[in-house]
Amino acid sequence: MYILKMYSFITFVLVLCICVSKSSQVNILQEAANLGATDFVKIIMETGMQKILAGTGPFTLFVPTNEAVSKLPKLYITLKELVQYHVIMGEVLSNQLKNEELIPTLLNPNGTALDIRFNLYKGNKLLTAEGSSVIVPDKTADNGVVHVVDRVLYPVPLTNLPVLIAMLKSTSTMMSALSVVDLVDFLLGGPFTLFAPTNDAFLKLPPDEFNKLLANHTALTAVLKYHILNTTVWSVGMMNNEALPTILYPRWLGVTEYNGKIFINNGLITDRDLAVSNGVVHLIDHVLLPNPF
Ligand SMILES: *[C@@H]1O[C@H](CO)[C@@H](O)[C@H](O)[C@H]1NC(C)=O
Ligand SMILES: *[C@@H]1O[C@H](CO)[C@@H](O)[C@H](O)[C@H]1NC(C)=O
Ligand SMILES: *[C@@H]1O[C@H](CO)[C@@H](O)[C@H](O)[C@H]1NC(C)=O
Repeated sequence: MYILKMYSFITFVLVLCICVSKSSQVNILQEAANLGATDFVKIIMETGMQKILAGTGPFTLFVPTNEAVSKLPKLYITLKELVQYHVIMGEVLSNQLKNEELIPTLLNPNGTALDIRFNLYKGNKLLTAEGSSVIVPDKTADNGVVHVVDRVLYPVPLTNLPVLIAMLKSTSTMMSALSVVDLVDFLLGGPFTLFAPTNDAFLKLPPDEFNKLLANHTALTAVLKYHILNTTVWSVGMMNNEALPTILYPRWLGVTEYNGKIFINNGLITDRDLAVSNGVVHLIDHVLLPNPF
């Protein structure tokens, strides 16, 4: 009798262990919360997206830290769209990703899914997702994988590069300059990084300089090409004292980081990491002139 009780007790314990170990499996939302990304999980709940993300999946979920969520700027998309942009259908682990790889998200405005662009920097030690550093990769859960990022994936790449330059009020001079020398169609390719001088930056040129450039398309083309890289370089991928090769071969731009600011030659980046479908745009406060000009 005692032995029998003992056996049934052991059986009970075994069953309990199996149950506990099964219920200790977590879905990606619980995993995200366990990783401390509670504010983004709250946003997911608010949008109703937890109904999908607690499902079978598998999903790949990018979760910004609470600090990153606190820095979220004014949104031009809904919170639900923001969450959708942080989810990829299927399980994507960090070691499967190549530099400049594009993977579609659940954000699908007007029938075309928006991609996340992945980049590798610093000898492949830094992985970025649309310019946000992946700081805790590959936390697997029972319906997918979670990657913690240190910045919300925002803005999302709603347009291609020329459309963004045409849309921004502060880059209308740059848009005109690109049009004058027929560089607009070229900028539909990519991937590209464009350092786009603002209208104010063009006003800082000596008065006759800009007119001279407008009158000499060879010179203007060279100056504009000096603002373009044929790779995607997000701000976190830039290193102090680094030289970036431009498509005005063989001219390079110098990066200087100082007090959290980033300068490209003498141009301060005033607005960084504007995501476009074929790369990234950074606004700068000076027109960059290649030597000899
Ligand atoms: C979808 O299309 C509408 C109508 O053309 C447009 O106003 C809206 O900006 C588009 N949305 C996105 C995210 O491209
Ligand atoms: C136009 O600019 C190019 C490149 O700077 C220069 O070699 C050429 O002499 C200029 N042409 C005129 C007409 O000024
Ligand atoms: C980028 O431009 C450089 C310099 O013009 C060139 O050597 C390189 O092959 C280009 N890379 C790609 C991917 O087009």
